[in-house]
Amino acid sequence: MPAASSLETRIRARLSDLDAHDLLRTMRPPGGVDLSSNDYLGLSTHPRIVAAFRAGIDAEGCGSTGSRLLRGDRVAFGDVERRFAAFKGADRALLFSSGYLANIAAVTTLTEPGDVVFSDALNHASLIDAIRLSRAERVIVPHNDAAALEQAIARTPCSGHRFIAVESLFSMDGDEAPLDRYAAIAERWNALLIVDEAHAVGVYGAHGTGRLEAAGLAHDRLVSINTGGKALGVAGAFVAGPGWAIEYLAQRARPFVFSTAMPPAMAHALQASLDVVRDEPERRAALRDRAVRLRRALRDAGIDVAESASHIVPVHVGPNDAAVAIAAALQAEGFDVRAIRPPTVPEGTARLRVSVNAGVDVATLDRFARLLPVALKEAGVCSAASS
Ligand SMILES: Cc1ncc(COP(=O)(O)O)c(C=O)c1O
Repeated sequence: MPAASSLETRIRARLSDLDAHDLLRTMRPPGGVDLSSNDYLGLSTHPRIVAAFRAGIDAEGCGSTGSRLLRGDRVAFGDVERRFAAFKGADRALLFSSGYLANIAAVTTLTEPGDVVFSDALNHASLIDAIRLSRAERVIVPHNDAAALEQAIARTPCSGHRFIAVESLFSMDGDEAPLDRYAAIAERWNALLIVDEAHAVGVYGAHGTGRLEAAGLAHDRLVSINTGGKALGVAGAFVAGPGWAIEYLAQRARPFVFSTAMPPAMAHALQASLDVVRDEPERRAALRDRAVRLRRALRDAGIDVAESASHIVPVHVGPNDAAVAIAAALQAEGFDVRAIRPPTVPEGTARLRVSVNAGVDVATLDRFARLLPVALKEAGVCSAASS
């Protein structure tokens, strides 16, 4: 058996390797103008939501003290799940402690051996891990390519059920999946569509419920994953879908059954967050305006920010060290932007992921748009091209 010290040697070598490839991360609390968080609507500090969180703690204490199927359940959880299901236009919703766990739960619980999951090449790590943990076969399909998806389905034998797993708005590329085409393919092949709305819920659609609403797609043949810690400003994630699917998750999903329920106050805060999404549509409008403004300014400066109009603006750099240097230069100017490197994105595609939020003032955003091309140039990246 190898000695403990040899394990230490191995791990230290791994860490040195990360360092040598400019892949060592540092934890750095927020500082400067927020252009990197997922707090797209500014709800994490919204007074109504903060007050609801406090009132929830006063009423229910801190911890839930158990799993939902044991003593950890609370009326507030069921209430917010029913509210979220109605908001999303789904039969039912179930609350998980995080989006990561919600994806693990949905994919590992609904699939069985013999099933095939067709997964977009740029899916988030939580979907990738979920499929790996499942006992279904995984087929990776080219990013956002509906024709390639259908070809892959046609040529892949499947003795069980087919699943199609995508993000509705891709987290690191800021581009939108062709959901209507995927829904039609799912219908033709009797597949279940699993749509991760992590970066779209709260933001897209007339009521802010996500891209499924904007695409006019109902939850009868699909399941959606909706995080509470991004635009909704709190934490956790709802899986929404047909009653039979959600009931089965409540019965069998291991991240639900074998984990302490989140603090009940979070359910109170999420209720308030849904109130704010309903009552303050101007936040969505402000976000859209700022996203379009930044994208236009960067395009005018010769930076390729890809086709989308979304609030996630990828600025492709390439080498890891250059992405880190550019982020540092912008941080020194007071902007909190972060370099995104592998394995979060594919090798050789390090980038800045600039995420706009409704609260950033336009003069500041314009200053950022002027400084970014300078920082790219100084790092020897003249015109960033998207992959
Ligand atoms: C597309 C996507 N799905 C799921 C998650 C995980 O959500 P959470 O942060 O709530 O665990 C993320 C988080 O970044 C994400 O980007």
